[in-house]
Amino acid sequence: MIEDRELARAVGDILENREFRRLGEISHHGNSVLDHSLEVCALAWRLAGRFRWDRVSAARGALLHDFFLYDWKIRRPENRRRFYEVWKMHGFTHPKTALDNASFHFILNERERDIIGRHMFPLTPVPPRTREGWLVNLCDKWVSLKEIPLYWNHLRGRKG
Ligand SMILES: [Fe+2]
Ligand SMILES: [Fe+2]
Repeated sequence: MIEDRELARAVGDILENREFRRLGEISHHGNSVLDHSLEVCALAWRLAGRFRWDRVSAARGALLHDFFLYDWKIRRPENRRRFYEVWKMHGFTHPKTALDNASFHFILNERERDIIGRHMFPLTPVPPRTREGWLVNLCDKWVSLKEIPLYWNHLRGRKG
């Protein structure tokens, strides 16, 4: 699943966790939450390493940043207003849900808590306090942007 051995070691306990692995069954932006989180994790690891920041916390926080176990999308995305409301509510609440789930299963340090709890800034009003928090915030947005075509195809497939 992860080719970089050091990264695999840094996040191995998370990937072995049964509850966390359920993210592989939860759809997200046309992929699974697990696929999305792995991509954010790999990017954050690489960049944090390049800047000589705390890449272990960056990778762990990134992997756990969307640890919510429900499909946030409604069944009828053509109903735009309702879809927007659901999206907005999920956008506000899921960092706290992910933080609760992550703290229940793992011991988190302050950086990891910052990464998970504030990754939706500026939709949620409190900005990250750590540079790793900012890094993952931006990596998440970048990966989500790249996923738009996937998501679009996924929605079109549903309508058919
Ligand atoms: Fe998120
Ligand atoms: Fe995300």
